[in-house]
Amino acid sequence: MNMRDIIIAKRDKQSLTDEQIAFFVKGVTDGSIPDYQISALLMAIVLNGMDEREMTTLTLEMAGSGKQMDLSYLEGVPVDKHSTGGVGDKITPILLPLIATFGVETVKLSGRGLGFTGGTVDKFESIQGFNVEVDSKDFPMLVKNTGMVISGQTPDLAPADKILYSLRDVTGTVDSIPLIASSIMSKKIAGGAKAIVLDVTCGSGAFMKDLSMAEELAGAMIKIGNLAGRKTVAVITDMDQPLGRFCGNILEMQEVFDTVTGKGEADVIEVVTELASHLVKLAGKDSGMSDEVLKDEIRARLSDGSCYEKYIELIKSQGGLVSGAGKPIYVDAPFDCMHVNSPETGYVQRVRADLIGQASVLLGAGRLAKTDSIDYGAGIGFFVKVGDRVERGDSLCALYTGENRQVPEERLFDAMELILEAYEIGPNPPEKKPAILGVMS
Ligand code: URA
Repeated sequence: MNMRDIIIAKRDKQSLTDEQIAFFVKGVTDGSIPDYQISALLMAIVLNGMDEREMTTLTLEMAGSGKQMDLSYLEGVPVDKHSTGGVGDKITPILLPLIATFGVETVKLSGRGLGFTGGTVDKFESIQGFNVEVDSKDFPMLVKNTGMVISGQTPDLAPADKILYSLRDVTGTVDSIPLIASSIMSKKIAGGAKAIVLDVTCGSGAFMKDLSMAEELAGAMIKIGNLAGRKTVAVITDMDQPLGRFCGNILEMQEVFDTVTGKGEADVIEVVTELASHLVKLAGKDSGMSDEVLKDEIRARLSDGSCYEKYIELIKSQGGLVSGAGKPIYVDAPFDCMHVNSPETGYVQRVRADLIGQASVLLGAGRLAKTDSIDYGAGIGFFVKVGDRVERGDSLCALYTGENRQVPEERLFDAMELILEAYEIGPNPPEKKPAILGVMS
């Protein structure tokens, strides 16, 4: 077997055999296939696709390219959640303690932000002392204490995906449903989950720009999950505007605190409630409640103090500092340095999340390259969102930086331009979209 024949087969729209896919993944992992041949095959897959069997084989081979986590020490079915990424997506820090109140134990491996989407690991690192580089040997002890652990992804988890992803990033081969689906699912499977809930984001701030693409990606991941013996549910969520009221690391963690103390934004509560209900059910911890009763119970736990208590337990167990008043202590303090005002009167029609994400990166909240450092205090707060009325001159949003950080003036103005482009104002109230666009299983 050789790579040239495999590339030609995919170029000529043939299905690759399981042996060909295994040969490819092994060669990627051990470094025996050069980058130019890997990239050629990736491009052929982007152009000619893969069928369900090929996608599943690719996923399982990538999952098997490194260590597979054994989560048999967890109580109940090991569940995992994954979001395909978005702007203002602060769901995981709320979701873990929320489902822990139902006795659902989780080991969550998360990434850092890159480009305009944020990363959960960076968000937790905005709390002073919080350790996100947890040794996997300590996972069982931490889970036993609090019901959850959050950590950066270990390098030995699906290493083939890491190599492929960094090549896809620079060869224009990220946007492919078989490649995205196998990349995500390989990490979930190697992470030891037996049931998976996927938050498939859809809209301007997501990989999938419209509902039919989001459904196609969700369908592909569900098929892979089921063929690999994992119960998989996908919730399609709106990312045509940022989620919640803030984007940026500390700003989002402050919003997480508001949400776990009963003061959350409606869209955040809607998404977290939907995802939590599936996770609790899949883990078998729903005590036979109907969907509606379970969702009411979930919402109640966000405001009755039980989710807050678990959240504080999680922070303390991973070394994070909490004040005497029971609030997390952050590494910086966001400073409101400028407001962007509406150029016209009308109703907000759209807030393009991709442009908001780019503006937030310009302010320092995200990275353009993996090695960039970030300003944890930087970000954007939204005074108005889709459907709200504004008068000319009203503040649309506030730009933040860390307390003693300076953003060069031209960057502030570039960020402002992006925000003005992101906000579309029209004369009539738009039709309001729900935060949940669909559920597939
Ligand atoms: N997230 C991943 O983990 N992989 C992709 O290919 C895209 C998003």
